[in-house]
Amino acid sequence: MSHPVPPVSRADIAGALAQLPRASLAHLPTPLDPCPRLAAELGGPKIWFKRDDCTGLAFGGNKVRQHEYILGDALSRGVDVVIQGAASQSNQSRQLAAAAARLGIECILMPRKDAQFEHVQGNQLIARRFGATIVPIEASASTKQAKQDMAARLEASGRRPMILGMGAERALTLAAVAYIGAYLELVEQFETLGEPLPSHIYVTSQVSTQAGLQAAVELLGHGVKICGINPMDARNEAYESPDEIASRCCAAAELLGFRLDLGPERINNSTEFVGDDYGKPAAAAQETAALLARTEGILVDPVYSGKGFSGLVGDIQSGRLNKSDRAVFLHTGGLPAIFSYASSYHDIGHGE
Ligand SMILES: Cc1ncc(COP(=O)(O)O)c(C=O)c1O
Repeated sequence: MSHPVPPVSRADIAGALAQLPRASLAHLPTPLDPCPRLAAELGGPKIWFKRDDCTGLAFGGNKVRQHEYILGDALSRGVDVVIQGAASQSNQSRQLAAAAARLGIECILMPRKDAQFEHVQGNQLIARRFGATIVPIEASASTKQAKQDMAARLEASGRRPMILGMGAERALTLAAVAYIGAYLELVEQFETLGEPLPSHIYVTSQVSTQAGLQAAVELLGHGVKICGINPMDARNEAYESPDEIASRCCAAAELLGFRLDLGPERINNSTEFVGDDYGKPAAAAQETAALLARTEGILVDPVYSGKGFSGLVGDIQSGRLNKSDRAVFLHTGGLPAIFSYASSYHDIGHGE
């Protein structure tokens, strides 16, 4: 059950964001690119790409924006080591290792020994460049547990660790807070263009990015529909349900001093475009990625942004979005993964 909250102003939100400790890491604002050739090809709504793949640090992505708040908070609390464990091709690990290097914090990465682990390419190759300590974990082990055990060992030796990613409550909420800020940035860009707000924002999201956008829309009382496309489903340990996404919205609003009472019925997060599984390229997403590249010269990756983009195209093709709509695709990055999935690019003669 959701209850209406009195809309707050953009200035109120901006003021609350300005109170939080923040590390300067991202190139902001990220560009907002119109995509007329893509829109014409699809025969659907007007489309813009919000280019958070261009946040700058170490090939960019949504996590650079999020790390500004997460690591700003960590530094203000005297944290001296950050820990992240995830898939071996994790974008967050790459972006975290770079941010930690830039801020002078020690970083421990715990990559899973998954199908991509032995092939040191893409994100994994780059992540190792920034001087992080690499502690691989078995593919079958719980990443959440492994990170907690590592943090406990460090604490026992007098260190001040902070865990990021799955299971890290405060970091996930701060990551959502960053996307409340991103929404304000987007609104300002539409205003500058003299364009009405979009009707829909599509984004690849497990939890925080979507939660932040949704929280912003709810707080401001905007009618923009946030359409999250999940890169994974309930088979994956890191999957977060609409219930959990709604809770993250409320937590992000609360951290800024606003009350939001929101239930899962307000959350539109689809697992329809996962394909075979998380981390496995899907044929439909590879096809729509090729169309995007051909029409607009923009790349998406096969694990995250490519599946999100295929969600936008799928909704145009099924008629869920039509010509009178105005869609933004918030590009969350992930591009280095393209290199570790080269064998899935069959259309350019790179298949098995
Ligand atoms: C490229 C990309 N897009 C989207 C996401 C999901 O972000 P969030 O967990 O904030 O929803 C990630 C997370 O790793 C990512 O790397």
